[in-house]
Amino acid sequence: MMKTDRRDFLCKAASVGVGVIAQPLARVARSNSREPLFHTGQSEYAEIPVASATPFDPATIRAQFPVLAQEVNGHDLVFLDSAATVQRPLAVIQAISNYYLKDNANPSTTTHTLARRSAEIYAEARRTVARFVNARAPEEIVWTHGTTEAINLAAASWGGANIHAGDEIILTIAEHYSNLVPWQLLAQRTGARLRFVDVTDDGHLKLDHLKSLLSRRTKLVAFTHVSNVTGLIFPVREICELAHGAGALAFVDAAQSAPHLPINVQELGCDFFAFSGHKIMGPMGTGMLWARRELLDAMPPYQSGSIMVHSVDVNSVPTRFAEAGLKFSAGTPNVAGAVGLAAAIKFLDSLGREEQRKHDQQLTAHSLNRLREVKGLKILGTTTPDERISVFSFAMENHRASDVLSALDAEGIAVRGGDLAALPLLKRFGVEEAVRASLYVYTTVEEVDLLADALQRISRAS
Ligand SMILES: Cc1ncc(COP(=O)(O)O)c(C=O)c1O
Repeated sequence: MMKTDRRDFLCKAASVGVGVIAQPLARVARSNSREPLFHTGQSEYAEIPVASATPFDPATIRAQFPVLAQEVNGHDLVFLDSAATVQRPLAVIQAISNYYLKDNANPSTTTHTLARRSAEIYAEARRTVARFVNARAPEEIVWTHGTTEAINLAAASWGGANIHAGDEIILTIAEHYSNLVPWQLLAQRTGARLRFVDVTDDGHLKLDHLKSLLSRRTKLVAFTHVSNVTGLIFPVREICELAHGAGALAFVDAAQSAPHLPINVQELGCDFFAFSGHKIMGPMGTGMLWARRELLDAMPPYQSGSIMVHSVDVNSVPTRFAEAGLKFSAGTPNVAGAVGLAAAIKFLDSLGREEQRKHDQQLTAHSLNRLREVKGLKILGTTTPDERISVFSFAMENHRASDVLSALDAEGIAVRGGDLAALPLLKRFGVEEAVRASLYVYTTVEEVDLLADALQRISRAS
């Protein structure tokens, strides 16, 4: 990769960022190979149309992410690992430091001005998160360390109280380990059974299979909104309706959807919904579980200690707890984290979530067109931009994922690879490892091209 002058890079990015995205595709020769995984000559596809321009300008946006303006291994950093964690804009970093510079105090007491201010800032952050997911009330938000803790909380608290021997929990084979292992352990503890919904060859959930698994024994359907492997968006509303029709609840893992899609838990019709702050530009160690108020009220505490309890006596176990979501937060909360998460949500909102989605689809279409030019590269899952977000996992014929990662890293291109914490899905696609490139609001078309060009070189070198 040629070293790029950064100002030139940003100028070019600005010009392409307003929609001059479609590029001629170099066609590769058709192969007669019957190998199902690697279509080495992918000539038989139509170029994906790239939607028209939007005012969304990644070059202006990326200027607000100082971490992106650096060289790695002698090249401008191309950060394409955003599904693992995204970068933070200055607005978020400043909100966190401002809290510590001006407002820090333990919010659990309101006996002095700073503590009252901290408590109000913390409450406002909860209101911001509630608006972000369109909860009915801030009390429906439970602060967690992220999606993983939210799932563990639901499994321990709701699951512990409601799942019994003989009950069934339905998952999909597309789940991230975080939405699999906690349910496996719950099933082991209680004698419940896990059932798994299969996906089609291009990663769509087999809804007929789900229907055939649902029964009076089903207590929960827990599934990802968007696959962290294929980027495919699952039909949440339909799945929730099917679950409810069988008398079961629906848990949505939104770790990959919240960063990319407008969220409305009431419209989605789910019972639980979880996402991680660090994947939407908030701080690591933040996130939330949303659940309907009645559910939270009926659930036993998860962790216990101060703040979540009203009064404590040495002679009896407490029975009166803080209301709804507040019951699940024991001890001094991560106020700076909540402040950072609220700032991230405001930043996202300022970009326009619909505009963001349009931009993401443009980038997705362009990326798919470019990646499909690479000989021996097999994209896992659907290649229809409307159905997915800009997360691309692929296998490369004759190349170990680790070799591809090292070659890209040497060119300053950061992607992820391995089992992607979703081995059951990889196996469904006939592989045990994959490389994943994941884009975000600051990603430019030029960066996608740098990735595709590097992959071409890797492919040709084999
Ligand atoms: C679909 C999905 N679910 C859950 C998680 C776990 O998120 P966290 O590690 O932030 O708790 C991830 C992380 O990548 C994910 O992609």
